[in-house]
Parts: sequence; C-alpha cells; structure tokens
Amino acid sequence: MERVKTGISGLDQLLQGGFPSDSNVLVSGGNGTGKTIFSMQYVYNGAAQFKEPGIFVTVESNAKSIAWDMQSFNWGIHELQEKKLFNIFRMSLGFAKSDRYVSDKISEQLRLIESKVKEMNATRLVIDSTTAFATWMESFEFRPRLFEFLDGLKDLGCTTLFTSETSGGKTDFSAFGVEEFVADGVIALYFVPPNRSIFVRKMRGTGHSTSLHPFEITNAGILIKPKEQVMWEAIK
Ligand SMILES: Nc1ncnc2c1ncn2[C@@H]1O[C@H](COP(=O)(O)OP(=O)(O)O)[C@@H](O)[C@H]1O
Ligand SMILES: [Mg+2]
Repeated sequence: MERVKTGISGLDQLLQGGFPSDSNVLVSGGNGTGKTIFSMQYVYNGAAQFKEPGIFVTVESNAKSIAWDMQSFNWGIHELQEKKLFNIFRMSLGFAKSDRYVSDKISEQLRLIESKVKEMNATRLVIDSTTAFATWMESFEFRPRLFEFLDGLKDLGCTTLFTSETSGGKTDFSAFGVEEFVADGVIALYFVPPNRSIFVRKMRGTGHSTSLHPFEITNAGILIKPKEQVMWEAIK
C-alpha cells in the first residue's frame, strides 16, 4: 500500500504512515475546529517537504485570505507557486438558486479543477468546503455528483481532502449526511474550548488509531499528540 504522508506532526503515526494513495478523505468538524488549517497544511507540506504538487480549492473564502492565513504560519507559498508545486483557486459559485442549471455549472467548475490537476500533475488536492456547493443542488443529486467527481480524481492519481462543516456533535460527520459514505476516510476535528481533539473515524485500506487524540494549533500549524488520549465524555 502506497502512502501519502501528511507531514502533519503526529498524524502519520495515527494512520500507519499516511493516507492510502489516491484515496479521498473527508475532514469534518464544527466551525473553528481547524479544518481549513489542517487541509492547508496537508497541501503545503506536500509541496514544501515532499515536492508533490498540490492545489487548494477554496469555495467559501477569497484566495487572498487563504494566502494571508498561510503567511501567518510563515508558510512561504510564493516560491512554491513559482515552482508550480502549489496553487490556490477560488471556485466561484456566483449564481442564484433559481438558476435552472446550477448543477451543470458546478460540474463545469469541477471539470475545471480536474484540468488544473492535470496541468500541474497535482497529486494532492483540497476542496474547502463541499458544504457550500451542496446547498446549491438537490440532495439526491449531491451524492452521485460528489462521488463522480471524487472518483475522477482518483483516476488522475490525486489524494483529495474535502471539508464539511458540522454542528460540532461527536457523531456528526458531515453537513448533509452523505459525504461520509462517499469518502474513503473520515477525520473528525472537535473543539470544546480550550481543548481540541482529532478522531480517525474511518480509513479504507489501512489500520488506524481508534482513539480520540488531543491537538493544538500553534504558529507552526497543527500539532497532534498521538500518545495522549482524550475521553469521549469530554465532547458534547
Ligand atoms: N497562529 C495560530 N495560532 C493558534 N491558533 C490559531 C492560529 N491561527 C488560527 N488559529 C485557530 O484556528 C482557528 C481557525 O481554524 P480554521 O481552520 O479556519 O477552522 P475551520 O476551517 O474548521 O472553521 C481560529 O479560530 C483559531 O482558534
Ligand atoms: Mg474553514
């Protein structure tokens, strides 16, 4: 089994070496739990540590705010962008819900992402988040479209993280209740102030920790403590 190392401190240890190559992993959690930072760090580490080209697609934020976030961690992205090892794209969803062809437009955007992946030979991709575009299509459409898209990326040799915002409860893994079924892996992030914790809910093709582990967000990004555990009672 080939692995994609996240390079996130402590995480690869919980996953017996990293994500299985070509898998897609849902990163879920309430707001402010660290989903954006976690997924940024995954792409950034890929480019900076392993020379693996990656793309960060932001659906909700401005690409500039993402770049600012990365600067705040002193992750120099300019040089990586010049070397074509890293890029940020904003997926634009500027249309009205009354638009009859919304799902076609989403498919068009997704095809655009696929073409960027091919162009850069990207092996890491983040979609932050899928919650936004799911609100634009009927739920019966969301599951097959998401599946089709993730499947296409798998064929391109991409290991993809996609985020979904939950209400923060311990058994809540996505906004629409379909993302976790489509995903090969699910990582849940929790924040019950002042404590943050992480749980690998599922990861096809590998053994993994089944405990809840504490983590911190520092100026160096996310630091997981793989040897420490948090009691489930600590989560609401
Ligand atoms: N440099 C930093 N040091 C410590 N914590 C930080 C730093 N930057 C951001 N954070 C924490 O991360 C949170 C945002 O994380 P983010 O990944 O944007 O969450 P989500 O995407 O899940 O909403 C902030 O609310 C803050 O608590
Ligand atoms: Mg976010």
